[in-house]
Amino acid sequence: MKNFVYAIPTKIYFGEGQVNKLDRILAPLGSRVLLVYGGGSIKKNGIYDAVVDILKENDIFYEEMGGVEPNPRIETVRRGAALCREKGIEVVLPIGGGSTIDCAKVVAAAACYDGDAWDLVKDARRIRKALPVVSILTLSATGSEMDTFAVISNMETKEKIGTGSPLLRPAASILDPSYTESVSAYQTAAGTADIMSHIMEAYFSNIEGYLQDRMAEGLLKTCIEFGVKAIQNPDDYEARANLMWASSWAINDFLALGKPVAWSVHPMEHELSAFYDITHGVGLAILTPHWMRYVLSEKTAEKFKALGVNAWGVDSSLTAMEAAAQTIERTAEYFQRMGLPARLAEVGIGEENFDVMAQKAAAQTRSSYVPLTAEDVKAIYQMAK
Ligand code: NZQ
Ligand code: ZN
Repeated sequence: MKNFVYAIPTKIYFGEGQVNKLDRILAPLGSRVLLVYGGGSIKKNGIYDAVVDILKENDIFYEEMGGVEPNPRIETVRRGAALCREKGIEVVLPIGGGSTIDCAKVVAAAACYDGDAWDLVKDARRIRKALPVVSILTLSATGSEMDTFAVISNMETKEKIGTGSPLLRPAASILDPSYTESVSAYQTAAGTADIMSHIMEAYFSNIEGYLQDRMAEGLLKTCIEFGVKAIQNPDDYEARANLMWASSWAINDFLALGKPVAWSVHPMEHELSAFYDITHGVGLAILTPHWMRYVLSEKTAEKFKALGVNAWGVDSSLTAMEAAAQTIERTAEYFQRMGLPARLAEVGIGEENFDVMAQKAAAQTRSSYVPLTAEDVKAIYQMAK
């Protein structure tokens, strides 16, 4: 285990009805709020009304910015930053999934930056100051509610880039599992695949971290236990609650502390969503089993076996290679059981951009668990086509 600094300061308000504390959460941070949301799900399920009522009752000034896209665009970030400056905003309040929260985080930084918001996405070191963010999560997936990252797309240049800074970590997040009961089966499945991928990205490191790995296996077991349950019974509060808390812990840094590693599957997927605007978790579910098959070797088999035995219930008496193969097949089967596609062709992706996407992804995968060159990434895309 390497040295690390543990500092995960986001205050979490977890459980049904926690939104009622919103006025007290906002009070020390500011009284002029930018409400940020997506395509309107919060207006259908009543969350918008609940929040606006609280803001009005407490005489909290608010401005609204709706219409944040899944795979949020840089243009929307610019719009939000301009609103913050114009209206003297002090706190950014996203209500939604990862796209809305990510957009709000970069809005919060761009509002304090003199240049163009895209600079902050391209070069995270330019993030020197940000307004506080308080998030209200409505979809369990990205962990944006408790992490330092934000992923923004520039459709003109076909770039989808993750930026990050401790300054972007929300000051507080409200996690009410009942808010996720209206999430569709497809988005629940994609979100669960995303959580599982975050866990595995941190798990597959060449640096030892016994405690972190056992925690990771517990989180993965939680997703396996409750992903399908939430899809079959959308109102299952316990399933929704477990997925929600797992989403935050999968990527709030804890699992990676002491065993940092460059991620493997996320850089490959970000190219898919940059070029084809597909749902992030769907791209991950398609690529993950193929990545696993590609990197499986005598050297990596023990790690796959440990994951299989401890999270999937694979028979520990099998050889490392046999157990690893089962781990991979169980993973692929689970994604399919949740109703997710298994091939790129199913989401309309052909071979036309494999070369350029592989080149771009490889810039980040050269030092991952098993280093991947552009040729390796292309081979994985080929396996997944
Ligand atoms: O826009 P609305 O109308 O709210 O609808 C959304 C959207 O259509 C809907 N939804 C959200 N909550 C709902 C709901 N529908 C019904 N009931 C609810 N309670 O779900 C759709 C998808 O929402 P989105 O926010 O796009 O999904 P997700 O949370 O999966 O976020 C995906 C984005 O986050 C990035 C991804 O790349 C992608 O851009 N990521 C962010 C990360 C981070 N900040 O750390 C890490 C991840 O690896 C990921 O890259
Ligand atoms: Zn992800």
